Amino acid sequence: MTAKRRILVTSALPYANGPIHLGYLLEAVQTDVWVRFQKLRGHECLYVCADDTHGTPIMLKAQAEGVEPSTLIEAVHADHTRDLADMLIGLDNFGSTHAAANEAVCRRMYLALREAGHIERRVIRQAYDASANMFLPDRYVKGTCPNCGAADQYGDSCEVCGATYTPADLKNPVSVVSGTTPVERESEHYFFRLSAFEERLKTWVHSGAVQQSVAHKLEEWFSQGLQDWDISRDAPYFGFEIPDAPGKYFYVWFDAPIGYLGSFTEFCARSGIRFDDFFAPGSAAELHHFIGKDILYFHALFWPAVLEGAGMRRPTGVHAHGFVTINGQKMSKSRGTFITARRYLQSFPPEYLRYYFAAKLGPGIDDLDMNLEEFAARLNSDIVGKLVNIASRCAGFIEKSAQGRLADALPEPALFAEFAAAGDAIAAAYEGRDYAAAMREIMALADRANQYIDQRKPWLIAKRDDGLPEVRAVCTQGLNLFRSLMIYLEPVLPEMAAKARRFLQESTWTWASSATALLGAQILRYEPLALRLDPKEVARLIEPDGTPTQPAPTQPASAPPLAAPPLAAPPAVAAAGTALSIEEFARVDLRVARIVAAELVEGADKLLKLRVDLGELGQRQIFAGIRAAYDPAGLEGRLTVVVANLAPRKMRFGVSEGMVLAAGPGGKEVFLLSPDAGATPGMRLK
Ligand code: 2FM
Ligand code: ZN
Repeated sequence: MTAKRRILVTSALPYANGPIHLGYLLEAVQTDVWVRFQKLRGHECLYVCADDTHGTPIMLKAQAEGVEPSTLIEAVHADHTRDLADMLIGLDNFGSTHAAANEAVCRRMYLALREAGHIERRVIRQAYDASANMFLPDRYVKGTCPNCGAADQYGDSCEVCGATYTPADLKNPVSVVSGTTPVERESEHYFFRLSAFEERLKTWVHSGAVQQSVAHKLEEWFSQGLQDWDISRDAPYFGFEIPDAPGKYFYVWFDAPIGYLGSFTEFCARSGIRFDDFFAPGSAAELHHFIGKDILYFHALFWPAVLEGAGMRRPTGVHAHGFVTINGQKMSKSRGTFITARRYLQSFPPEYLRYYFAAKLGPGIDDLDMNLEEFAARLNSDIVGKLVNIASRCAGFIEKSAQGRLADALPEPALFAEFAAAGDAIAAAYEGRDYAAAMREIMALADRANQYIDQRKPWLIAKRDDGLPEVRAVCTQGLNLFRSLMIYLEPVLPEMAAKARRFLQESTWTWASSATALLGAQILRYEPLALRLDPKEVARLIEPDGTPTQPAPTQPASAPPLAAPPLAAPPAVAAAGTALSIEEFARVDLRVARIVAAELVEGADKLLKLRVDLGELGQRQIFAGIRAAYDPAGLEGRLTVVVANLAPRKMRFGVSEGMVLAAGPGGKEVFLLSPDAGATPGMRLK
């Protein structure tokens, strides 16, 4: 093992003008797996990110919604924070580029750049919207392409013929903001003298800081010559005002990467870690940025130059990845393939996507196709069929043959040693961000473990009168192989690994734990660690009606009131707070149900008529008093929970054959219960 490293890691900052989607999750997962891996190896590894909040789009969006930009970005920050936490992204700090901490670092760095002579003022001409009183970014001017004559093209490039130009070249230009014809106006702008850094950047690029394929791309840019970079924008602009330059603001792309540092200073203030230990020139700490391939220019050229120009260290590594496509196509809202993090998380566990991404993610910049059929098949085969299967095949025998105590020795130490020896190659693959190789290696070992169990057949040994010691030994071996795999998978499956560790009654794991067998230990009863994915459920991710109109409840209801007021509730569940014997409770048949149809009931302004599918129990009709809270169309397809053994009750509108469960005070504030992903219609609640 190498000496303990100090590492600071970042993911690119998500824009604060929209939800987190699967494309961003790929990056967050890629980064988080790397960070968790480093921690498991015993290194000090910190991970920060922030919302990217500034710029014209956010300013205009806030205007359109009639709110302050700060109100808009705060709401988005809360959503982003929750989405990332629910995806098990273990950030040490998730800040905002609008934070005071970031403004302080921006000013400090800008003044250092100015002091060192890296800032220059120049007058430029730019499109100006005289009715909205603002300068227009290139994408806010549209018109006819000067090259091919295509109408309705943006001011920087033509989507039809690919020509690039400036808004002044467009024919019939129109401001996207007001619809008026823009004029040209002069304004003084502040430039960062990037061209002065060319030689130093070349050295840095070839120091191994970027991937090979990226280095080639950068060569192209070098050969075209580096242009100085306009880092200012005129008011009105949502951002930070430039020191000593009233009415001039830092361009969003100037303060965004500085947002990494702003977020880190917040973490430093909380933790006592010293900022300069990581950012002073010559710092021995490592700095790694994970980004999408579309923002390489900013991270591999501007950013190292800005850091250096401001008297700081350069990044150790800038690691780019490709985009996510869904079933072979670019994510698109109109095709229903723009899958938000929330949409995914409403239906499936975070670790399933983490594993799928890891299994397909190499170290390069190729796009990653999420094929939904393959997603279900891969999860069912690798995680349920191979990995978890090892534990579920062995655990019961340890319980029965030895009251849950593992044997004191392994019957096949050489096989365990093989698993331990594989750790180095797996670690090297994680380190090099070749997670696909790491997952392949781990699944090959899982196959090996299953073969071992198949060969030894504990279920047959257990039938022999004298078979118990042998069964215990074989299953101790099996569980130890499983344990090694779970340790290797902890960066990808942190919750599943934590559950497995609790099952084995161990307090912590490090990477090195995989080299020492767990023997003679008392373990707990095995609880299933993963359930099969239903491919039909997965396909619904891209059905336009797959998005529930109501958010799933975030808090489990402790004593759910009954959502079907017209129905008499069985005493066992009606009287919240009243003591209830376990036998009484057991009489209530609670089942997972899928709502297959929902409609309004004429003449009943509180009711919806639902048709629910209870799997093996068939379909039922239920009247539920949830009309104020739910739009019937949005309910179709979702899973919920019903009381399945209520006597049918004849009502004015028809017979109700059960009751749906919900939480909340009533009226609009009623929230149907939703089972976790993996539940299927007909499953009985325990
Ligand atoms: O491309 C983007 O989504 C930007 N919001 C990324 C910013 S990363 C960093 F530079 F701040
Ligand atoms: Zn054109």
